[in-house]
Amino acid sequence: MKADVLLGLQWGDEGKGKIVDVLTSQYDIIARFQGGPNAGHTLEFDGIKHVLHTIPSGIFHPGVVNLIGNGVVIDPVIFEREINDIKALGIPMSELLISKKAHLILPTHKLLDAASEKAKGKEKIGSTLKGIGPTYMDKTGRNGLRVGDISAVDFKERYEKLKQKHIQLLNFYDFEYELEELETAWFASLATLKNFEHIESEHYIHNALKENKKILAEGAQGALLDIDFGSYPFVTSSNTITAGACTGLGIAPNKIGDVFGIFKAYCTRVGSGPFPSELFDEVGAILAKIGNEFGATTGRPRRCGWIDIPALKYAININGVTQLMMMKADVLSGIDTIKVCTHYELNGEQIDYLPFEDNEGLTPVYKELEGWEMDLMQLENLADAPKAVHDYIAWLEEVLETPIKIVSVGPDRKQTLFR
Ligand code: GDP
Ligand code: IMO
Ligand code: MG
Repeated sequence: MKADVLLGLQWGDEGKGKIVDVLTSQYDIIARFQGGPNAGHTLEFDGIKHVLHTIPSGIFHPGVVNLIGNGVVIDPVIFEREINDIKALGIPMSELLISKKAHLILPTHKLLDAASEKAKGKEKIGSTLKGIGPTYMDKTGRNGLRVGDISAVDFKERYEKLKQKHIQLLNFYDFEYELEELETAWFASLATLKNFEHIESEHYIHNALKENKKILAEGAQGALLDIDFGSYPFVTSSNTITAGACTGLGIAPNKIGDVFGIFKAYCTRVGSGPFPSELFDEVGAILAKIGNEFGATTGRPRRCGWIDIPALKYAININGVTQLMMMKADVLSGIDTIKVCTHYELNGEQIDYLPFEDNEGLTPVYKELEGWEMDLMQLENLADAPKAVHDYIAWLEEVLETPIKIVSVGPDRKQTLFR
């Protein structure tokens, strides 16, 4: 058996959480492979709206195993809050396993994130300030603490050593901070993390595949926020692409099956960085309002724009996407003319890729497609959708050379149309 991968093709918040939840009944294991509590994955069902940050989106399906992989970074305080929030819903939670090799976000990592952003001033990344960058820096710098270290006898000493290093850096930044309360909460929250089984998840995954178990690897963020291929430096600090599922779970590349690429019928971005098809007009404001485009983690307004074909093609190629899923089609209802960015113009030339250099002066070139009036949220069958919806889907499939298998028409689990 091979493992399928589900990931975002834009700048995050495509609706990954919703689709993982919808697909979970077809799988035995749902495994998050990278990122941390910078993610906010929203699930809606039976009148419940719930946002997950570290915990995989299969958690509301009893009988399924959820796994937090080695590629994920965990803040024990946020993890504890997530567990408590799930318990408060009073509905069954499925099994949750955690990789011993997942790195821990320390309170000082969060402070360093804030200090780094402050020092960057106008050039700030727009980080979610969850300590993601500093934690991955310690991972690659070979200084990090991992989930499996919590039970080591010298854990406290190793924590102190790393903390002292961070304090020196915070002093370098001349950053004022209060650590005591954060630390107390952090150490107290380790108890919740300890309640779950810590495993060497690569062996678990390997054996599961041998036993023909069905695995879905859940990504966080999106391809355009990838540390290598995103709009650097305005990116996150992990590999958000299919390759990240290999390193973040220990799945061999030849054991990757389908790759589900999720994209919005338009495009959004939260935080700083290039966004060629961004809208600053009334249409952008309408997309933000109808789409309720506010970050699930930070509550910040998301920047909105038209779909960007060169960027999507790039993401499809890098991820080896086999099936597409188009989200939030309902948000476009009532917009007379839908625009799609087919390429860009730079210095009088037409290009179909995001250039390495500064994107100043990059102008999107649009094709216009007919919109539709009908509210799609009540649709139960895609066949009943207006012709303009079918034309939009057909046009996208042709230019993206990949089939669109799901069209989402609302936030609820049920508002999902299969093709
Ligand atoms: P994720 O990070 O990729 O899981 O996405 P988020 O949860 O951050 O953001 C997606 C938002 O859109 C959430 O508020 C979802 O409830 C909502 N959503 C998902 N699919 C649809 C859809 O088809 N239509 C509408 N209107 N909202 C959707
Ligand atoms: P999900 O999984 C949207 C963005 C931040 C910032 C940049 C770096 O919900 O799609 P970081 O906190 O990683 O240092 O921030 O990446 N970002 C996201 N944007 N959705 C996310 O996750 C994001 N996670 C990080 O806004 O621009
Ligand atoms: Mg999100």
